[in-house]
Amino acid sequence: CSISLLHSLLLLPLLHLSALFRAPLFLPPRQGRLRQVKAVDNSRTEPVVLVFVESIYSQLGQEIVAILESSRFHYRTEIAPGKGDMPTLTERNRGRYTLIIYENVLKYVNLDAWNRDLLDKYCAEYGVGVIGFFKANENSLLSAQLKGFPLFLHSHLGLRDYRINPSAPLLYITKPNQVEQGSLPGEDWTIFQSNHSTYEPVLLASTKSSEALAHFGPSPLRTLHATVVQDLGLHDGIQRVLFGNNLNYWLHKLVFVDAIAYLTGKRLCLSLDRHILVDVDDIFVGKEGTRMKVSDVEALLNTQNKLRALVPNFTFNLGFSGKFYHTGTDEEDRGDDMLLQHRMDFWWFPHMWSHMQPHLFHNVSVLAEQMRLNKIFAQEHGIPTDMGYAVAPHHSGVYPVHSQLYEAWKSVWGIKVTSTEEYPHLRPARYRRGFIHNGIQVLPRQTCGLFTHTIFYNEYPGGSKELDKSIRGGELFLTVLLNPISIFMTHLSNYGNDRLGLYTFESLVKFVQCWTNLRLQTLPPVKLAEKYFQIFPEERDPLWQNPCHDKRHKDIWSKEKTCDRLPKFLVIGPQKTGTTALHSFLSLHPAITSSFPSPTTFEEIQFFSGANYDNGIDWYMDFFPFPSNVSTDFMFEKSANYFDTEVASKRAAALLPRAKILAVLINPADRAYSWYQHQRAHQDPAAINNTFHLVVTAGPSAPKDLLALQRRCLNPGAYATHLERWLQHYQPSQLHIVDGALLRTNPALVMEGIQRFLGVTPIFNYTQALMYDDSKGFWCQRVEGGRAKCLGKSKGRKYPEMSPESRAFLAEYYREHNMELLRLLNRLGQPLPSWLRQELQSTSWS
Ligand code: A3P
Repeated sequence: CSISLLHSLLLLPLLHLSALFRAPLFLPPRQGRLRQVKAVDNSRTEPVVLVFVESIYSQLGQEIVAILESSRFHYRTEIAPGKGDMPTLTERNRGRYTLIIYENVLKYVNLDAWNRDLLDKYCAEYGVGVIGFFKANENSLLSAQLKGFPLFLHSHLGLRDYRINPSAPLLYITKPNQVEQGSLPGEDWTIFQSNHSTYEPVLLASTKSSEALAHFGPSPLRTLHATVVQDLGLHDGIQRVLFGNNLNYWLHKLVFVDAIAYLTGKRLCLSLDRHILVDVDDIFVGKEGTRMKVSDVEALLNTQNKLRALVPNFTFNLGFSGKFYHTGTDEEDRGDDMLLQHRMDFWWFPHMWSHMQPHLFHNVSVLAEQMRLNKIFAQEHGIPTDMGYAVAPHHSGVYPVHSQLYEAWKSVWGIKVTSTEEYPHLRPARYRRGFIHNGIQVLPRQTCGLFTHTIFYNEYPGGSKELDKSIRGGELFLTVLLNPISIFMTHLSNYGNDRLGLYTFESLVKFVQCWTNLRLQTLPPVKLAEKYFQIFPEERDPLWQNPCHDKRHKDIWSKEKTCDRLPKFLVIGPQKTGTTALHSFLSLHPAITSSFPSPTTFEEIQFFSGANYDNGIDWYMDFFPFPSNVSTDFMFEKSANYFDTEVASKRAAALLPRAKILAVLINPADRAYSWYQHQRAHQDPAAINNTFHLVVTAGPSAPKDLLALQRRCLNPGAYATHLERWLQHYQPSQLHIVDGALLRTNPALVMEGIQRFLGVTPIFNYTQALMYDDSKGFWCQRVEGGRAKCLGKSKGRKYPEMSPESRAFLAEYYREHNMELLRLLNRLGQPLPSWLRQELQSTSWS
């Protein structure tokens, strides 16, 4: 650690820091501090942080959110109300928030008495802490007491010599035994002063000029002041952490992460373990003159040995394309030979033989052939071939998924793990995630600021200080701080020349170990992937997006594939509301094209709702023809279980964000009965052996199969709940509610409304295309000779009417759901279906 000298000089005052700063500004702690104000309610699995920001654009607000997002913590932002309402702490959100953060702490302390009381009660009842930032601006006071607190602040100060109070209880990742010497940036620092034992300083500094605070009193210790304090809750039962500046200074980010962990009783907290893996991509692929020489390989081995003392298992992971072996100068070729001589000291992973991009290969066997050449090269040179990890040149084929790559990797190399920066997108880096597809675990890869062209320290883009900044508390440091597992990508050229790769990782490891208690370690990729999905099991399932919506993805998307074979709209169900009739009517339209029927799932594709989703988008697109005209052709698919399947809306919106959505609603009681009859027709024993009334009224102790049938009868009918979920992902203007009762009695009218909603031309005249068939009792397609072509006998079944008791029971059961639907449709400005009016009228009479 480059500052260890300074550290040892300053060790003495540090040991006594806590005592020093409490006198005279902070009194000694009372016996028996409050640990947690209240026991944490473990029944809530998804703690949410409530962040009051100044505006949606405010910088500090964005930085707070960026740290929460990087840490994968759930949060909600609100514009901090001035004197107004505290809208978020309503009944519905009771106990939902685990921590409250104020971008501007003055908004918090200056709340009017009513709201402040509300907030305080909320915090006290649920053990919720508060983090606040005090950022001085031209308007803020120089010195003041913080309203309602035994705490004074003095702002607009320049500070120097930052130190950490080793007795601050919130310290967890932060290692307290360091001193950051020198001036702190800016003259806008705020310090806190109190003689109440509830305040414990966390970070302290000296003022730049001692006169500045002469009026504080005559103490010889006055030069040390707290700029971050921890309120232990001894004053009013609420724990807080207050920052006398924003998050710009790197140490504040570290302490902020600790503050979140502490105030949430470690519910929002990562363990201290951090795994790093350093990939050296393209170990033989580099221009003559930029490759590694013998001395560079020696340095690589030396640094690896040094790092192993600090990071257990540390091993550079070398990627190779055999074709480029021995293509440098003589000196560089000797470097290649030395790498191979020491091959067992490293880990190895394959690229393609000639570093080709896999998405350019449509044919799996040609792709596999390229891989085989590289494997033969590895075998001939004794390079281990069993690491189970591979990386694709330029991320090609990994994401967006080129299924041929996954197949070839498995068959030639037995690959189990890869990594990419592209899922879901390159930027922002904090959104990068992993997923598992076709048996291959894809891990997110991080950039460390080194690229093929960054080969000299002094020519680092923006100056060498940029690289150092990134290592010393900047982006690279934060990547390690906020990600339990980081795979970094570097290149051959970063290990020749100025060997920036070695410099970067050695400095990073030392810096991390200076300032944090993090335990750095390395694992081979397969083990690393296992660990990753243990930590983040929710990331196993991917979320497919349209490759053409991201320029970089489009560039690595096979030219033989298109993004045009995707639907413009979806009929989402629910089941038994007339969706098949709607599908057949839509298909009559000259500009509307349905997906091909799936042989396995009752003609529907059922992609977004179940296991078919694992097949990927190539599989999905195969259900659609190439449109003859992309802008005028309307392709669609109907899968009636999308409506009430939890994951469907999110998945659909990820791939088809601009799609229009049609939902068909009939009286949920009739829908339930129709499903029951459907199951009887399919010989479901639960439906055969039980009356409908028994099914819908069964209590929780009824047999499992009966309850399963009950769920399928009743759950889809909670229409508003399901629609709200779709509206989390789609705009109201993208959603059209079809009145299923009207579709049945007057389909031409309904179809006209649908066409206008879709914006499809020409408007097709359904009065001519459809005719009522007396014997079927439904509208059917008019075919040649004026005959009717109706749906099969499974649609429009004949069965006895629902009993009045069941109808009454269901009217009551769905009453609140229907009221919700009424409110929702009113909110959306959509017309009320006729059946809903009737239902609400009749239930309000009863
Ligand atoms: P029943 O068979 O219970 O009468 P889905 O296609 O979504 O599974 O819905 C089937 C229901 O569509 C049928 O339920 C029927 O009532 C209704 N339906 C509406 N219009 C129809 C039509 N033109 N032909 C056949 N069934 C129609």
